[in-house]
Amino acid sequence: MPSSAVRSPRLLDRVAAGQPGARDELDRSLRAANASIPPKHFYDPLGSALFTAICELPEYYPTRTEASIFESRRAEIAEAVGGGPTLIDLGAGDCAKAARLFDSLSPTQYVAVDISTDFVAQSLTHLQRVHPTLDMIGLGVDFTRELWMPEAVRSDRRVFFYPGSSIGNFTPPEATAFLARIRSETDARGSLLIGVDLAKSASIVEPAYDDALGVTAAFNLNVLNHVNRQLGSDFSVADWRHVAFLNEADSRIEMHLEARRTVSVRWPGSQRRFEAGERIHTEHSHKYGLSLFESLLVEAGFSPASIWTDPKGWYALIHALPA
Ligand code: TRP
Repeated sequence: MPSSAVRSPRLLDRVAAGQPGARDELDRSLRAANASIPPKHFYDPLGSALFTAICELPEYYPTRTEASIFESRRAEIAEAVGGGPTLIDLGAGDCAKAARLFDSLSPTQYVAVDISTDFVAQSLTHLQRVHPTLDMIGLGVDFTRELWMPEAVRSDRRVFFYPGSSIGNFTPPEATAFLARIRSETDARGSLLIGVDLAKSASIVEPAYDDALGVTAAFNLNVLNHVNRQLGSDFSVADWRHVAFLNEADSRIEMHLEARRTVSVRWPGSQRRFEAGERIHTEHSHKYGLSLFESLLVEAGFSPASIWTDPKGWYALIHALPA
């Protein structure tokens, strides 16, 4: 192959420069009566690596179950999606899930979108060596705030890929709004390929978010180190414990950090006291009934054209077309 055909990934970053609101948002969330930390702060380079480790855990069934659907339905998925799309990977991380689709989908362009710009840049550099001629773009952006699609991203036949049940990290109304944003960036020949974790019993779901090795606990606690760097706060990880439970009424796993003792936390311009046992809400992961999720898609302007599930009915992979 002539060396001119070997490409390098293009990187466009909006996280470093264009996030003036992020610090205020964090400050406000921490001072609220029910303190919270927006979940995007999980994904510093260590957090992204810990999340990759979570996906390897025996208790964390979503990644494995989703992968088994991709594996067993490869041909059907390829036929439904069609060859040669602009493949846009939302929350690409290590890019491993999308990379497994390259052979069957032959994308004309691969766009990896992630809040952790450095992590996704590194992943793309490795991936470009394996696929030297594929046009690759890395977008560093907080897509929960803005679904930034710069001109470099082809507008033709965009297939938005949103695996891993990350849609569950929005509340249902937020999820509908986000799906509608995706819809507004999709032309008539484009589509959405999305993974959704389905509702099931606490005995299966809770260990997935509170594993025996403590990797999820480390992932949750690491958010405090990242917040310290972002905000200049003085959280001490040792003062907090990871708590995860299924909230059956809202059909969601909730993750919190609970103060082991009464602590005072300071950051420039503010401070807060947390009583022993007080919690900071860090994440929720909604588990859907299929028909409820289909109705969100319809409300957002999509029509669920194909639905694949695993034999146990734990997880759904949905291909949705513009309605
Ligand atoms: N999208 C993943 C999920 O909801 C994110 C996730 C997995 C996660 N484990 C976590 C987020 C632990 C916070 C803490 O399943």
